Amino acid sequence: MNGEELRAIRERRGEDQLSFATWLNGALNRRYDRSRISRWESGAERIPQQVAGFLAEHGGAAATPVAKSDEGPKLRRAVVAVANQKGGVGKTTTAVNLSYALSTLGLSVLLIDSDPQGNATVHMGLDPGEIETTRKGLYNVVRGGALFDSILQPVCDGAVMLAPSSIGLAAAETELVAEPDNSLVLKEKLAEVRNRYDVIVIDCPPNLGLLTINALAASDLVLIPVQTEVFAGLGVPLLMETIAKIRRRSNPSLNIFGILPTMFSSRLTQDQASLREIQEHYAGRTRVLPAVPRATLFAQASGAGRPAIEADPNSNSVQAYAELARELAAHLQIPEAAHVP
Ligand SMILES: Nc1ncnc2c1ncn2[C@@H]1O[C@H](COP(=O)(O)OP(=O)(O)OP(=O)(O)O)[C@@H](O)[C@H]1O
Ligand SMILES: [Mg+2]
Repeated sequence: MNGEELRAIRERRGEDQLSFATWLNGALNRRYDRSRISRWESGAERIPQQVAGFLAEHGGAAATPVAKSDEGPKLRRAVVAVANQKGGVGKTTTAVNLSYALSTLGLSVLLIDSDPQGNATVHMGLDPGEIETTRKGLYNVVRGGALFDSILQPVCDGAVMLAPSSIGLAAAETELVAEPDNSLVLKEKLAEVRNRYDVIVIDCPPNLGLLTINALAASDLVLIPVQTEVFAGLGVPLLMETIAKIRRRSNPSLNIFGILPTMFSSRLTQDQASLREIQEHYAGRTRVLPAVPRATLFAQASGAGRPAIEADPNSNSVQAYAELARELAAHLQIPEAAHVP
């Protein structure tokens, strides 16, 4: 059975990919998600024998009543900026792991690398040097008139789409200065693909320059990773001031999703004190998410060009990212689909 045949069976049953996955899972005791169905249909992944055999036998008619997606909670799409002008706090690690974790919940996810360092691009296994020479990076969209579609690349076996970047994007910071409405360029370009993804995650650079401002102006939610260290050094108030200005001036629907403490060592009293201080300071105002522990797994996975949560989904260290994805999905009222084993 090929992808087209599988899609034809699904469409005959009048189901979307999520409810089709639910039906298959019920019948076969598996935990397939929507992105898996999508990969089968596009031919990106081989359809397992068991599934093909089952569909050959039972795929002809909609024998089992299936809850249609429009009977469940409505899906609110969101653009989420991962931002903090402080360097090295875990923005990219968070953007990459969150993107993959969201895909395992059955959501379609686009990750945008909006940092000229190209760290998210490398973390997802692509080479920024090649992006630069082939001119298929974010710079070519925001400055070169390229379509978003022309730069997107599937990563993590097709679970996530990536808009990669490379060092050339640095020029956009200065070139955009002369543009009219120069904080709204990314938002305008994103309109092309926005309705195709459940969640779009933007990895921001470590400054409050025009690339970060563009990301915030194009977003619905901001996620702020902070390293659990001395509270005064976090720099969050300045970021919040910037968010408040953008909300007033161009994007009134921008909200802070939460603060994500990162690199937390539970054995260090300093880290414990910092975490408590963060929780107390923001209590009742901004959600403080479960802390991501400090673990070598993150750097190792990044070196291997994949998200840690994809490389080792059962590790305790990555559970904070699984929880973050679930909280975000719940916030968007998206029903949680089965996790892919
Ligand atoms: N939970 C963690 N435990 C241990 N190391 C981590 C953790 N999260 C991130 N790191 C490591 O810390 C370094 C900085 O992380 P990351 O690149 O995600 O930060 P960033 O905020 O995106 O940095 P930049 O400001 O340069 O863009 C990386 O080497 C990464 O592998
Ligand atoms: Mg980064």
